[in-house]
Amino acid sequence: MNKKIFLSSPTINGSEMQYIKEAFDTNWIAPLGKNVDRFEQEVTDYLGDGYGAALCSGTAALHLAIKLAGIGAGDIVLCSSLTFAASANPITYEQGIPVFVDSERDTWNMDPRALEKALQTYPNAKAVVMVHLYGTPGKVKEIMELCNKYHIPLIEDAAESFGAKYQGKYTGTFGRYAILSFNGNKIITTSGGGMLITKTNEEADRARYFATQARMPERHYEHTEIGYNYRMSNIVAGIGRGQLKSLNDFIEKKKRIRKVYKELLQDIQSIHLNPYDEKISEPNFWLSCITINDDSNVLPLDIITSLEDDQIESRPIWKPMHIQPVYKENDFIQIAEGVSVAEDIYNHGVCLPADVKITATDMLRIINIIRNLFHKKSISLSMVERILDA
Ligand SMILES: Cc1ncc(COP(=O)(O)O)c(C=O)c1O
Repeated sequence: MNKKIFLSSPTINGSEMQYIKEAFDTNWIAPLGKNVDRFEQEVTDYLGDGYGAALCSGTAALHLAIKLAGIGAGDIVLCSSLTFAASANPITYEQGIPVFVDSERDTWNMDPRALEKALQTYPNAKAVVMVHLYGTPGKVKEIMELCNKYHIPLIEDAAESFGAKYQGKYTGTFGRYAILSFNGNKIITTSGGGMLITKTNEEADRARYFATQARMPERHYEHTEIGYNYRMSNIVAGIGRGQLKSLNDFIEKKKRIRKVYKELLQDIQSIHLNPYDEKISEPNFWLSCITINDDSNVLPLDIITSLEDDQIESRPIWKPMHIQPVYKENDFIQIAEGVSVAEDIYNHGVCLPADVKITATDMLRIINIIRNLFHKKSISLSMVERILDA
């Protein structure tokens, strides 16, 4: 049987163990501890801005961003539709109402024109949740201008885009609040975890307080608000500290993976890679995705099942939130009539493997399976090696 190729699985670099060992040696595996403090500092040092609260997941981070933004019952929050459910669910946790906003074609992210229409329709909206999908920064400048014009906070969901830059600055540093995810499939992982990024230490402290059951600073257990058990453990943070050392190398590898797909599938006119504007952004290339034109006889599912038959993991694009049964009653704002951009990308797209450990031989298997479906000549290993191992 062929070796299994994963979409994006954890890649341990070995240095994680020293931080975990230190926690064990000092009998400090919980609660919190030095690794947590350092990890918060190291992540925000990397970003060059903000204050971090290390939490048990990106979803928890988004929940606390929603709380800090003051979202409550009945408040409208404008949210990207083309994303994972975790971008929207925390709005609902606080009984807010997500209104979904369509994507644009240039980056697949929130369309500023659709956002403007949404803001005109809902001038009392309380926040915008903007996602940088698959590691590609969205149109930050246009979206920030709209948020400023309507005086509402931007919450950046940078769960998939840690290390990606927009106009030379890292995603996660633009919004009033931002979140990162260190889930197992993300560009770096702590096995599971996330971080809230705030503009002031007071806000990060407030998030830390909510994340530890909203315990008041008293000797006894005193609570004046509802809290959560959302903090990251000292062991988990140790993994993060080790992983952080590899972030730039992982981005470089994922960039090459994308280049392999780009160059070795470019003669198939029906295939297009997920786009980005290289003049203003540097994605982290977390996943390489393709869309397939209607004129082709090959459907996304044909690619997914052919890869699956050879032990290769791929995925459909996120199913947009506005067509999810759970959110079907929620409003959705798009520019033109007809099938939305988000749904069109979903209908035509596939996420291809972009695992950091992928080898030239693995990529040869993937590329030739796809080429074969489109009746194109197979390529040789050296053609992949020339790009991947350059
Ligand atoms: C866009 C997006 N937002 C939020 C999350 C939630 O992160 P976590 O899995 O760490 O809760 C994820 C990933 O899982 C994601 O892809």
